[in-house]
Amino acid sequence: MVSKTKEITTLIKNAKKEARAEVKKTPQEEAPYTGPVKWPVNCIVGPGLEGAIACESKIGYVNGSKGELIYRGYDIFDLCAHSSFEEVSYLLLHGELPTGKQHERFSSQLLHCRRVPQTIRTLMGFPVEKMNAMAALRLGTNLMRQESTYVDQEAYRPDRFPSISADEDSIPMETRPRGEKHAIYEFKEKKGGSKPKEVDKKYGPPVGFTPTYRLISGVATIAGAVERIRRGALPLEPDPDLSHAGNLVYMITGRRPTPIEERIMDVTLILHADHGMNASTFATMVVASTLSDMYLAVGSGIAALNGPLHGGANAEVLKMLREIDDPKKAKGWFEQTCEKKKKIMGFGHRVYKAYDPRARVLGPLAEYLVENRGSDEIKRLYATAKELEKLAIARLGETKGIFPNVDFYSGIVYSCLGIPVEMFTALFAVSRVAGWTSRVMEYLENNRIFRPRAVYAGSFGKKYVPVAKREE
Ligand code: CMC
Repeated sequence: MVSKTKEITTLIKNAKKEARAEVKKTPQEEAPYTGPVKWPVNCIVGPGLEGAIACESKIGYVNGSKGELIYRGYDIFDLCAHSSFEEVSYLLLHGELPTGKQHERFSSQLLHCRRVPQTIRTLMGFPVEKMNAMAALRLGTNLMRQESTYVDQEAYRPDRFPSISADEDSIPMETRPRGEKHAIYEFKEKKGGSKPKEVDKKYGPPVGFTPTYRLISGVATIAGAVERIRRGALPLEPDPDLSHAGNLVYMITGRRPTPIEERIMDVTLILHADHGMNASTFATMVVASTLSDMYLAVGSGIAALNGPLHGGANAEVLKMLREIDDPKKAKGWFEQTCEKKKKIMGFGHRVYKAYDPRARVLGPLAEYLVENRGSDEIKRLYATAKELEKLAIARLGETKGIFPNVDFYSGIVYSCLGIPVEMFTALFAVSRVAGWTSRVMEYLENNRIFRPRAVYAGSFGKKYVPVAKREE
């Protein structure tokens, strides 16, 4: 496997060299967002909470001016060159790279969590084929919560049984607050004084490492099922002989990937696993900070990621390239887009004012795949992307710090792996579950509910006018 995929490792190492050489040419330092934080903290906040510091974290760091991305102290290029998604997930969650034994144990835990049969069975009862893949994925996490925790079952409710003595199945209650003595509230469900045993044994709590592992593994299985249902096929059983990345390609495409394809999918998963306090991570953390639970928190991350300004941009890029369709038309399209002051999808970033290191890796991977196995259409789209990149960097790079971001080349890579455009953002989510859950786990250690203020800019002292007296 390693020798077969050596070319990929070489491409990544070369991308790192190129990135470092370019940063040396234009060193611009940004204010360091490195800790520790001493609360309360002074920061200059722009619209969209730009510059606001939400918390301290040891999980990852984005240096926007140097184009650097660090997971737990490790450079993203090194992790892509040498690591795997399983190992990176462990690193993000537990803070260190796993030892051999820890790696083996963690991988087998993830493997164990791949199968979510009840979730898939329930999902198939919904019109998934008519749903946006991200909406279906989000629904899947809700169903998984039900399958994995039983948290909404009557039997799981913590307060009910202690309030009833063991030999009673009814308690006196008032039907109206008038003090009737004989009103009775009947419990019609099963008799018993405690939660059913299997709820305790088989199902876990909705927060902590158990749901985290389940989600990292299970969301991938749900994504596979969503794609299969969308095209009228039956979901596939996960293949325990494949890695997380290989199994993901298999469950989506129905084809066992080649070692190169598996390796490339693994690299895309590593690249998307975490990225600072982005919108979806923040959404996830806000939900978790209310002491809601991991499944609902991840569901809100999926919702936030779906937007075209965030993870949804990867699908928009492919649509944009199809619209341009030809490298020769790129210039005209670019001029018109700039004139209309429209944004180019896959370009720009709130934090990066340099080339996004993830795009540095994905660009060469796209080129490799296009050269080796691209269809005529994808070759044309790749050539169009390269032309657009040249034009956009020349106009917007120096002046506005706008460069390709992670979403610019990922769609071409996914397309070459046989992934349909509708699933691009779902793949982003499958990977980002590792970052979301790691950050939630870290934040919950010293949880404080997120509760910023809005500045009220409305009026005061208005006199209430009854509806009949209001002017039409
Ligand atoms: N194309 C052209 N101009 C742009 C672009 C772009 N893609 N992005 C920003 N600008 C310009 C923008 O017009 C504005 O110019 P001016 O100051 O003259 O009005 C300036 O740059 C600042 O833009 P902004 O919208 O205030 O920047 P932001 O930090 O709020 O937005 C962004 C960041 C990622 C939402 C934005 O760059 C964008 O919409 N990009 C396109 C969508 C995209 O590719 N999103 C994926 C982001 S990376 C993956 C992820 O995190 O999900």
